[in-house]
Amino acid sequence: MKAYHLNGHAGTGRLEPVDLGKPEPANGEVRIRVEAASLNYRDLITLDRAGQTGLNGRVPLSDGAGIVDAIGSNVVQWQVGDRVAASFFRDWVSGPFKSSYVSSSLGGTSTDGMLAEYVVLPATALVAVPPHLSSVEAATLPCAGVTVWHGLITRGGMRKGDTLLVQGTGGVALFGLQFATALGARAIVISSSDEKLARARMLGGSILINYRDTPDWDAAVMKATDGEGASHILELGGPGTYDRSLRSVASGGKIIQIGVLTGFGPKPDLSRLQWENADIIGVTVGSAEHFVAMNSFLTEHAIHPIVERVYGFAEVPEAYAHLRSGSHFGKVVVEF
Ligand SMILES: NC(=O)c1ccc[n+]([C@@H]2O[C@H](COP(=O)([O-])OP(=O)(O)OC[C@H]3O[C@@H](n4cnc5c(N)ncnc54)[C@H](OP(=O)(O)O)[C@@H]3O)[C@@H](O)[C@H]2O)c1
Repeated sequence: MKAYHLNGHAGTGRLEPVDLGKPEPANGEVRIRVEAASLNYRDLITLDRAGQTGLNGRVPLSDGAGIVDAIGSNVVQWQVGDRVAASFFRDWVSGPFKSSYVSSSLGGTSTDGMLAEYVVLPATALVAVPPHLSSVEAATLPCAGVTVWHGLITRGGMRKGDTLLVQGTGGVALFGLQFATALGARAIVISSSDEKLARARMLGGSILINYRDTPDWDAAVMKATDGEGASHILELGGPGTYDRSLRSVASGGKIIQIGVLTGFGPKPDLSRLQWENADIIGVTVGSAEHFVAMNSFLTEHAIHPIVERVYGFAEVPEAYAHLRSGSHFGKVVVEF
């Protein structure tokens, strides 16, 4: 079978096409014929860290969807032909997070990912694809979609009448925008591009701010919300956005801490949390249980993920370059 391996050294990571033996499912495992895989910002970080222990020779990408192709013994929940997607953490099936799950993240330092024609995983690490979605669409869900569901809905409790702020128009931000629209929440979108903001308006964004033209976008958020601020914020930037997120949060609001788009290690002044009785919710993707709940919501509201572009299997380096350019709106996908 065809696959890609990560190779190289820090800063010069490359994706190496390889031919591997088709894996066989053992007891409790299922083999998936992968039809599509999607890229996340995390995959750029992983590529840039090539050479780090465990990464070289690893199959990258956490996100993929396809068809059940073979079943090991004692698997009762799946049949050959079922349409499935893999959950980001192979071992986080349900219940609260445990730090021991980290090493089971697909396409990370310890566990192979989805950029292979066939992948074997435990039956418990798979979820059914919503019937209205293609494999290309379903492949966008495991990281970006589940992160937003877990942070914003399960833990953040966003509902009708709330106000969500999303940063940019990448994968995570647009799931946030689509979930807000479906729930009847108001959405504020900040972006570097007026053209992308116009597209965000079509998805239900109602307060649109170009953060290049308006670098003090927190003041613009406050003005547009009559001094109230956003009840929920998807904090995606990290050090370059965190202080402005804190200045944009409404009384009793929630900052869902997710991203590192401007780097790691925010050192914000957290005092405003206390004055506004606001919360920070730290999120690392979610469980298979969160994924199943999100899929019911996607089905109920007939939500289709926003796919910017689909690349062929031979074009994986181009797909990575597209994501790195930041020119995308939504998700970049590889179709096998
Ligand atoms: N904690 C978790 O479990 C988890 C899960 C998923 C993702 N993440 C993190 O969440 C972030 C987003 O991931 P993604 O896959 O959605 O990324 P992505 O699709 O690559 O999104 C990139 C977009 O972010 C926007 N952006 C970049 N710098 C910005 C800034 N300073 N202010 C506002 N927007 C900015 C840009 O949108 P415009 O072009 O519109 O400006 C850019 O196109 C990443 O840091 C990722 O590592 C974390």
